[in-house]
Amino acid sequence: MSDSLTQPCLPHPVIPPAERLIIALDFPDERQAMALAEALPAAVYFKVGLELYLAAGDRMVSKLKALVKKVFLDLKFHDIPNTVTQACRQACRLGADMINIHALGGLRMMAQAADGLRQYGEAENLRPPALIAVTILTSMAEEDMIEVGLPPASEVNAVRLAMLARSSGLAGVVASPREIRAIRQAAGEDFLIVCPGVRPAGADLADQRRVMTPGEAIAAGADYLVVGRPITRAADPQAAAAGILAEIRAALPGVLRG
Ligand code: C5P
Repeated sequence: MSDSLTQPCLPHPVIPPAERLIIALDFPDERQAMALAEALPAAVYFKVGLELYLAAGDRMVSKLKALVKKVFLDLKFHDIPNTVTQACRQACRLGADMINIHALGGLRMMAQAADGLRQYGEAENLRPPALIAVTILTSMAEEDMIEVGLPPASEVNAVRLAMLARSSGLAGVVASPREIRAIRQAAGEDFLIVCPGVRPAGADLADQRRVMTPGEAIAAGADYLVVGRPITRAADPQAAAAGILAEIRAALPGVLRG
């Protein structure tokens, strides 16, 4: 077995276990999204993506904040550095706890966004959200990468872009389960790895491929797991979320279980 497979992959140490589960509120309207958030009192972190944001607007963030929830605003900015920086500042103003931009926007875009966000937080006395990068969309297969002129090896691209995000001053990346280990080993323990594509054993995969269970993803070094349908479409969402949280806790090293 190679060294990289035998080294321990510890997740970031300072995140309370209950915050490690981010529930994706992939709904077409505010009513359904809020009904689910209100039905899950033990859940701490929710993700608002493009569909819900365009349907419900920035009220969605303030309504979740009013429930004392954390919000990952998943709008994946990709534009010229100035535009992305200003968008990140607006996301900070809304009170998002985590936001993301595309690493393929390049080092200058990422570094300017990270700097601009820090300066804005200081000037407005606001805590800036964790700024993370999307490396390669997990929907892209080898042939898609070749088509746009990228090398076909998705793990190589993901690690390269994660390291670029790190040198740009970003807090971490979104990564597919199969890339967690390589990114964790390259980027170290204080770099956040946020991982969708997670399914409890026996759950319906829907359109996700190459999934990991919550326990496997945490053991591989993920910090946060993004889970949607296994909770949002469950007959009992509260029980589904509790089961995943229990699995996360069990996979954490003893000192991090809280
Ligand atoms: O329902 P499911 O658990 O598959 O939802 C996963 C969530 O994570 C969705 O909101 C999806 O858009 C998001 N996501 C993903 N893969 C990525 C990035 C985000 O599945 N690479």
